[in-house]
Amino acid sequence: MSQPEASSPGRRGLGGARIVLGVTGGIAAYKAAELASTLVQAGVALTVVMTAGARQFIQPLTFEGLTHRRVYTGVFEGWNDGHTGHVELASGADLLLIAPATANTIARLAHGNVDDMLSAIALATAAPIVIAPAMEQHMWLHPATVANVETLRERGVTFAGPDAGRLASGAMGQGRLAATGEIVAAARAALGRGGPLAGRTVVVTAGGTQEPIDPVRFIGNRSSGRMGIALAEAAIDAGAAVRLIVTRNVDPQLVSGDVVVVESARELREAVDDALPAADVLAMAAAVADFRPERVSDQKIKKQGGQESLDLRLVRNPDIIAGVEKAGLLKVGFAAETEHVVAHAAAKLEAKGLDLIVANEAVATIGSERSQATLIARDRAPVSLPEAPKHVVAARIVDEIVRLLTLEDADA
Ligand SMILES: Cc1cc2nc3c(=O)[nH]c(=O)nc-3n(C[C@H](O)[C@H](O)[C@H](O)COP(=O)(O)O)c2cc1C
Repeated sequence: MSQPEASSPGRRGLGGARIVLGVTGGIAAYKAAELASTLVQAGVALTVVMTAGARQFIQPLTFEGLTHRRVYTGVFEGWNDGHTGHVELASGADLLLIAPATANTIARLAHGNVDDMLSAIALATAAPIVIAPAMEQHMWLHPATVANVETLRERGVTFAGPDAGRLASGAMGQGRLAATGEIVAAARAALGRGGPLAGRTVVVTAGGTQEPIDPVRFIGNRSSGRMGIALAEAAIDAGAAVRLIVTRNVDPQLVSGDVVVVESARELREAVDDALPAADVLAMAAAVADFRPERVSDQKIKKQGGQESLDLRLVRNPDIIAGVEKAGLLKVGFAAETEHVVAHAAAKLEAKGLDLIVANEAVATIGSERSQATLIARDRAPVSLPEAPKHVVAARIVDEIVRLLTLEDADA
């Protein structure tokens, strides 16, 4: 099977990244198969390295089937046909990700032991290391493990989880392997380190607000949140710290990282206000209701016999992005229009004092996997992007944000 190929210079995100996934001997080893599949589907060139303990729980064949690559265990493996085993795997990796990581492997890494392929790669690599521990709570809280984790953190290792919840023993406590999305988010953040948005905080809103009518009904819209989530991920890939503010209708499977969940426009404004002090960029991809019901009924509204209509009086919601004032903040808006898309978006850019607006045709974009966007900034003619999946469009928007921040820095 093939060895990891060289990653392209300037590569960003998971696509084309060369990741070594270390799987160790915990009960959660089976979850590493789902993680491996997710990474491969995201375009990662994934090589799996298993400890002997991991092989007690899951077969290498599972990972060979998922990755189409050879799986390694012993440090004496892989030294044939001119290949240099752990040295080659260590130097060829963009990231070493260990999930699940046992207390034993965390201890071995903290002490620098090299007794299998995984520990050899961990010592030989210059790539960032992300560890997702999984163990019983007593093991996780044991002073030995606490000290080992601290040692590794001090050396720059990132930890994803563990989460609290039901453990394999049946007890409740901290020690569950973090969710796949959380581990992938930590991997993205480690890969993005040092990117063009390193040191910047980007606040992204995603989804569609819900304006309550009564305890069970609301006025909403068809926004799926995909564009905002794609934008958050593209910003993480470029090295930014991201705060993602999502509405509660957004598919939780899609969401990972530093996330705040809101319902109405007014809640969204509060979440934006909370995030602003740290923000360098505010990107409002959420579809925010312009109006909300003036009165929200405490009880479910019942229809009366013979009633043929119901009047709902709506009042204006705050215009969140127009109301935001912070020196040096780059404001990015989105305009989903059904006609005169570019002209209406350009007017919005001016009216709301934005630095960049992303104009879309509303019907084709909202709720869709793809988008055809035009980027409108003040310093140049609108740039029309080809129709593409939202993650591709998001990467172009991030490029434009980087360009505008660079111009701002030059002016400062
Ligand atoms: C059924 C079973 C489940 C285990 N689950 C865990 C676990 O979830 N986390 C952990 O740290 N150790 C767990 N262990 C202990 C490890 O398998 C043991 O420490 C082993 O030496 C780990 O080796 P490795 O870190 O090289 O994979 C478990 C052991 C058994 C028998």
